[in-house]
Amino acid sequence: MNRTELYSIRMRASAGGKHLSGAERITTYANINDIVRELLVRAQGKSIIPKQIAIHIDCLQDKSPQYLVALDVITLNARDMIEGRSDAARILELTGVSSRAAEIGICVLSRGAALSGGNMRGAIIMDSRTGERLEPDQERGIRASRFDWSEDALKKITRELATIGLTHFRTREALALATKVAHAPRMVAELCWSDEPDYTAGYVASRAVGYVRFPVLKQSGDTHGGRVFFVDNDKLDMDALIRYLQREAVLINDTGICRPAVKPEEYFGRVEKNLKSQLLNPS
Ligand code: COA
Ligand code: AMP
Repeated sequence: MNRTELYSIRMRASAGGKHLSGAERITTYANINDIVRELLVRAQGKSIIPKQIAIHIDCLQDKSPQYLVALDVITLNARDMIEGRSDAARILELTGVSSRAAEIGICVLSRGAALSGGNMRGAIIMDSRTGERLEPDQERGIRASRFDWSEDALKKITRELATIGLTHFRTREALALATKVAHAPRMVAELCWSDEPDYTAGYVASRAVGYVRFPVLKQSGDTHGGRVFFVDNDKLDMDALIRYLQREAVLINDTGICRPAVKPEEYFGRVEKNLKSQLLNPS
């Protein structure tokens, strides 16, 4: 038996057909028991008792994972949801998303992105120029899967996020997901806010701007949320993009820089200064 082979372990809990929670890890054969126990605790940690808990365990076989460094992290303390969404759109534009596509992305998430009007089970794939939706199934969307932190990177990111006041496991998991997504072929940027009514935080992420977190991207109590993956549709190979997001394993083996929260004016001032110096000193 090859004891160094890696396994993908994925948990999802549901009740009466309603998705309650999901989480996943990548680990060695020897650690499977511990990780399954940890994921079961997660499945049972919601206020609603699950009626089904499914745990899938697959060997990654000889397909070695891609190793990535996590995106840098910063929080933008926008005053409220309106300012947060407007700053999120401004950052999307900095990454190359058109103002029209950014506006469509925000609008679609806020009214319920599924064709039926509710939340999707995965992400929208949107043309970053036109705002056209490209995902094959507008109820389901595309779910990023098979990603995790390496053991050392998990300890390091937990410490570093704690030093900037981010102790919720969701931030660590969302950062891992966003890091995988940002490295997808033809990916321009991601926009996300949760569908959990009490969780108002969201983010914009890309390789260029890192993981830019907003404490408030929706009103408390709002049950609408989702993800938009903005892509460059020119020469996009949709099958390759979906295969990467859903099937190809990614292990994050180092952290990026975790910066303390800033006010939006300070953030945009800094970004403009950087852009100016890049224009004056092109490499
Ligand atoms: N919302 C609603 N339904 C979901 C769901 C979600 N987020 N995730 C899974 N399901 C349900 C769907 O009915 C799905 O069928 P579908 O493919 O037709 O949509 C079914 O479960 C099977 O999903 P699948 O993805 O094949 O299961 P899996 O066991 O391989 O993986 C997850 C399940 C939840 C672990 C994985 O999809 C995932 O989302 N991983 C990322 C978790 C994470 O770290 N998220 C960060 C959040 S901050
Ligand atoms: P969450 O971050 O779990 O609150 O999920 C917010 C929204 O993101 C959900 O409503 C889905 O539309 C979408 N989503 C959930 N899981 C994934 C995933 N693994 N990949 C892409 N999108 C997802």
